[in-house]
Amino acid sequence: MHSDLKKILFTEQQINSAVRKLGAQLSTEYVDKQPIVICVLKGAVLFMVDLVKRMEIPLEMDFMAISSYGDSSQSTGVVRILKDLDRPVEGRHVLIVEDIVDTGLTLAYLKETLLHRHASSVRVVALFDKPEGRKVEISIDYCGYTVPNDFIVGYGLDYAEKYRNLPYVGVLKPEVYCK
Ligand code: IMP
Repeated sequence: MHSDLKKILFTEQQINSAVRKLGAQLSTEYVDKQPIVICVLKGAVLFMVDLVKRMEIPLEMDFMAISSYGDSSQSTGVVRILKDLDRPVEGRHVLIVEDIVDTGLTLAYLKETLLHRHASSVRVVALFDKPEGRKVEISIDYCGYTVPNDFIVGYGLDYAEKYRNLPYVGVLKPEVYCK
């Protein structure tokens, strides 16, 4: 375990098992729909890569990079698109891949944006759900694990751009924040 971590929440095996289950479920739900699977950069990259390998159906991949305005520690819900999708979503079934849903503000904005562009459907798959942090009501259609209200890192999730490459997910030691 990385020495900056207090504990491991999910091992590589537990993550793999959730990803396999979600992939199988999505393969059934999206059969014959050729969805556009959208990765929200950068946190969802590792999840997206593993998930699409478990989706045994034709699909397309696209990427979006967004950033919240204002104080980085407090999500405001006002989101700026840094990199937009390459292709239009009009008339297409869209699946947003998120690493973790906390306040729900980012996701609410993204869903609204894609529905505005006349996607046929917009659903969300999130590896982690942190329901205690929620500020807006938002439905997560497919979810891996519910997590407590701690700041977690690993498997794509970062603190100050670090720890994304850990193959497992853990809770940071409080002193790491105060350095
Ligand atoms: P929301 O708008 O508050 O739901 O923000 C979701 C985004 O905040 C996620 O996509 C992550 O990038 C980031 N985030 C929320 N909680 C955590 C965490 O515990 N660790 C790392 N990033 C987090």
